[in-house]
Order: sequence, then C-alpha cells, then structure tokens
Amino acid sequence: MSTRPEKPAEESGEKPTAVTTTKGAGASAEREPILEVRDLVKHFPLTQGILVKRQIGAVKAVDGISFDLYPGETLGIVGESGCGKSTVAKLLMHLERPTSGTIKYKGEDITHLSGRALREVRRNIQMVFQDPYTSLNPRMTVGDIIGEPFDIHPDVAPKGDRRRKVQELLDVVGLNPEYINRYPHQFSGGQRQRIGIARGLALRPEIIVADEPVSALDVSVQAQVVNLMEKLQDEFGLSYMFIAHDLSIVRHISDRVGVMYLGKMAEIGTDEQIYEHPTHPYTQALLSAVPVPDPEARDGRERIVLEGDVPSPANPPSGCRFRTRCWKATDKCAEEVPLLAVPETFAGQDTPAAHPSACHFAEEKAAVVAA
Ligand SMILES: Nc1ncnc2c1ncn2[C@@H]1O[C@H](COP(=O)(O)OP(=O)(O)O)[C@@H](O)[C@H]1O
Ligand code: SF4
Ligand SMILES: [Mg+2]
Repeated sequence: MSTRPEKPAEESGEKPTAVTTTKGAGASAEREPILEVRDLVKHFPLTQGILVKRQIGAVKAVDGISFDLYPGETLGIVGESGCGKSTVAKLLMHLERPTSGTIKYKGEDITHLSGRALREVRRNIQMVFQDPYTSLNPRMTVGDIIGEPFDIHPDVAPKGDRRRKVQELLDVVGLNPEYINRYPHQFSGGQRQRIGIARGLALRPEIIVADEPVSALDVSVQAQVVNLMEKLQDEFGLSYMFIAHDLSIVRHISDRVGVMYLGKMAEIGTDEQIYEHPTHPYTQALLSAVPVPDPEARDGRERIVLEGDVPSPANPPSGCRFRTRCWKATDKCAEEVPLLAVPETFAGQDTPAAHPSACHFAEEKAAVVAA
C-alpha cells in the first residue's frame, strides 16, 4: 500500500511535464470506507412500439458491482468502452437511479435519498467529466461556470464573496485568476479540464468521481492534469474514483484498481496486485496489450490476443461473461457465475495473488495463446 506522498512539484502553464510518482493515502484496514457500494445493478429497459411501449429486454449496463472507497485513496476503474464505467459513475452521482443495490456514504444508505437530504450528500461527492469541450457551457463565463454550484449551496459562498472564491479556485488549479470573465473557447483543452476540476472543487467535496478526465486530452497535457489532480488530492484530502481505459494512467494515479468487464467487476486489488500479479484472464489480456517501452521486457512477454467482440450487454453470456473470449473456458464457466472473491488456491496465503478475482480458474500465470 502506498504511503502519504510528498507534494508533487507545482506545475502551471501547458508545457509538457513528466508524470510525477505520487499517490493518494491509500486504503487502510483500520479505516472505515467513505463509500460502500454493494450489488449495484442498472438495467436500461429496451422497448418496442411507438404509441404503446412494450419492454422487450434490458441493457444490463451494470450487473452487480461491489466495491469500497477509502478516505484519501484513489480507486481506478478500467475496462473497455461499453463495460458500464460511466453508468457506475452516474449511479454514484445520483444522475441515474439504480435498478437495485445500495450505496452507502460514511455508513449511511444514500441510495434512495432525494430533495434536501440528497443535496447535502451530493455536495460531498462531485464529478469531473470526460470531455472538457462539451461539458462547459460555451455561453457562460468561467467565473459563472465555476461559481454555479454556489447557486445550489449559497451558504458555502455568500453572493458578495463569490468572485473572490472563484478566483481562489482558478489559482488552485493553476489558472490566472484574471481569466474569470473569459469564455471556455478562449482556453485550451487542458485549461478547460482545469476549469472543470475547479468547478468540482467549489463545494469542497470529499469525493471526486472523475470519468475519463484526461482521455480527450493530448498525451503531454494528460500528465499535467493528472499531476494537478494528485496535488489537489494531497492538499484537500480527497478520495478519487478515477475511471479510464488507459491502463498506464490508472496505474500511475491509483492505490487500488478494479477491472470491469460487461457490467461486472472481474478483478480488484492494489496496483501491484493487479499489474504485477493479475489472476483473471481478462486482466492478463488487457495488460498484455499495453505497450512496453523497454525491448528486453517486451521480449519476455507473451501477447494475448482476444478473439471476437465484447458481447452485447442486452444478452450477456451465461455463467462467466468473459467465457466467449476466454482461452481457458470450460463447461463450468458456462454454467456457474464466478464470484468476485479471493480464489481458494491463494486464500490465506501471503502472496500478492491473494486478491479478489471473479474466475473459476484464477492463476497467476495464464496459459497464454501467443500471437
Ligand atoms: N441511458 C441509456 N439507455 C440505454 N443504454 C444505455 C444508457 N446508458 C448507457 N447505456 C448502455 O450501457 C452500456 C454501458 O455504457 P457505459 O456505462 O457508458 O460504458 P463505458 O462508460 O464503460 O463505456 C453500453 O452498452 C451503453 O450503450
Ligand atoms: S471463469 Fe472461466 S471463462 Fe471466466 S475468466 Fe475464468 S476461466 Fe475464463
Ligand atoms: Mg464512459
């Protein structure tokens, strides 16, 4: 588990910067989770008919996901496009209602909160969106965008104090406070994401759910925004849920990582457990596709090529959802849903392989089909 980091180097402007190697406080066995998610399900109904709509099925976007988020840590969530990452984020933000399951915040069940009680909790859980080009209203000034959350929570910044608060936030995210009256189109992509982050911070939340916050940015700018997020985590003691499809970025920022496949969690553990000791074939396949700059390390690696496409979440395979693409699949995989648990082979052992993995035949070294 990583320890509390030193502060990353202050960075500003848009010059390419190397990604620093700091991480959040990490999960701790003695601490209570700030967020507990249990058996979360979201099925979107599939309907037919124009006047009279009949439900003919459901898109099982999220189908029984459980995880904890600890104070000060970063939980990374990875998985291919369409596996349900954004839906999980929206469920946490109450932007979608779950079909079933529970979300607890500091031990309190917040799954079905509404009205004032929901507003109070929502203040502590904020979101940073993927696309800084479409998520900022082009007709609003940066000051109005960042200050918008104060309209819902005027107690945080009374009217006369808002300008100063917004300028403080601009400064915190490395932008010139004098830019307060500018419009989004006057900023670069990286700067716009800083504005999105400033808005996310306005209410001084405890948790930030970042849904692919750097995916739309140039690689050089990605590092700067990730570094900024780490600096802010340290400064404000934030807990992050960091969603991405880029495994390298997730590894860099995360204390723990969850790997999603077709609405389910395939494997979850510390970054070391997931990246160095994966036991789920899907994680092993994803990692084998990550480019390795060092030719020697590359030579020793087997490349796993996944056959076929991701099946439709409207009609997922029986048993293990990964079985249609898994080179180790047997009849058991079609019949029994593998549970996310520490595999029996490793239970009670002091090995990094002893972490939850939803596979009947979890093992460290996969019987790999080389390309
Ligand atoms: N509002 C919706 N109505 C119907 N299907 C949806 C809706 N939102 C998402 N989906 C479907 O749910 C699945 C998961 O989507 P999403 O959570 O956006 O995945 P990801 O963020 O991992 O790419 C996809 O098949 C997507 O088409
Ligand atoms: S349960 Fe079976 S199909 Fe699923 S990942 Fe494990 S071996 Fe593959
Ligand atoms: Mg998404």
